[in-house]
Amino acid sequence: MARYDELLIELRETPRTWLITGVAGFIGSNLLETLLLLDQRVVGLDNFATGHQRNLDEVKSIVDELQWKKFHFVEGDIRNLEDCRRAMTFKSLENNNSLIPVDYVLHQAALGSVPRSINDPITTNSTNIDGFLNMLVASRDAQVKSFTYAASSSTYGDHPGLPKVEDTIGKPLSPYAVTKYVNELYADVFSKTYSFNTIGLRYFNVFGKRQDPAGAYAAVIPKWTASMIAGSIISINGDGETSRDFCYVENAVQANLLAATADEIAKNNIYNVAFGERTTLNQLFVYLADCLSEHGYKYELSPVFGDFRSGDVRHSLADISKANRSLGYAPDFRINEGIKQTMPWYINQSLKAL
Ligand SMILES: NC(=O)c1ccc[n+]([C@@H]2O[C@H](COP(=O)([O-])OP(=O)(O)OC[C@H]3O[C@@H](n4cnc5c(N)ncnc54)[C@H](O)[C@@H]3O)[C@@H](O)[C@H]2O)c1
Repeated sequence: MARYDELLIELRETPRTWLITGVAGFIGSNLLETLLLLDQRVVGLDNFATGHQRNLDEVKSIVDELQWKKFHFVEGDIRNLEDCRRAMTFKSLENNNSLIPVDYVLHQAALGSVPRSINDPITTNSTNIDGFLNMLVASRDAQVKSFTYAASSSTYGDHPGLPKVEDTIGKPLSPYAVTKYVNELYADVFSKTYSFNTIGLRYFNVFGKRQDPAGAYAAVIPKWTASMIAGSIISINGDGETSRDFCYVENAVQANLLAATADEIAKNNIYNVAFGERTTLNQLFVYLADCLSEHGYKYELSPVFGDFRSGDVRHSLADISKANRSLGYAPDFRINEGIKQTMPWYINQSLKAL
């Protein structure tokens, strides 16, 4: 049996207590959904900077009443150490408000987006570096079993090598990439200095339901899908031959659960989290249009091509063999499968917005 399947059985048999920061965001709310469906206890921390109450409401509508009671939400800011400390215990409503310490931290809260960091490096820095350090300190002091955090493929920066292997990185190309690299440096120092268990997951272009399609900093898949449904023209940055290793969110959820509960030997390390295949923006355009047509939406407009975006890397493809070897990570969903799974959600969202 695959390691992940074994883990799901173990977790169901012996529920643990988890803290998800950024729980009202895209990846955080998908982690929440999976953990609650596994009957885990979950504390969630968020300040709604880019996350939404509607994401939490959607998870509530998916899990049962008993599972929802196992979720304790703390509205707070990771830039405030006291807020981070408040999130280190689960208040059990079923058990006279008794306090249960957090076992595993899944730290997702950050300000994403390369362009956002170029426009406002100071807020990105304070959230992604000061906030990260606060979370490390609070988690260390609370003696959690492990601290798994969202690192980023942007750390590969200007290194041209493909596929990307964890040990070989270049220089960062944006303030965002600097912050994500600093996270890795801090985590490494905490591992060595305080014997504290950390694992960094370098996500590569994660996509799936609840990824925000709106706003200037929206990611390409939700943004294009919403535009296609609305019948608007898609604008591609550059010539469309820029490529990415798009990773369906269920794969990222799998990596988080495996990492948090991994053996000591796998800890204090960085792992690529992707599918391990490269898709160009031109191919992505065709995949989305094809999938939409299967749902009765014919999109026949041609894209327009604009300038390349500053801070973007040209190609991205992960070598996922380290995560496979050490964590048992075996992603189930390639890009088309993820798009197929998510499309009904995108369509639903677009209809709601009308
Ligand atoms: N989505 C991707 O493709 C991708 C790729 C690489 C890395 N990442 C990283 O994964 C993590 C999750 O990203 P996402 O795509 O779910 O983004 P998201 O914006 O949907 O989620 C981030 C969440 O963090 C919260 N947050 C932001 N600042 C906060 C603060 N100061 N205090 C408390 N909460 C705060 C936001 O409100 C939001 O709910 C981030 O660390 C991001 O940098 C994502």
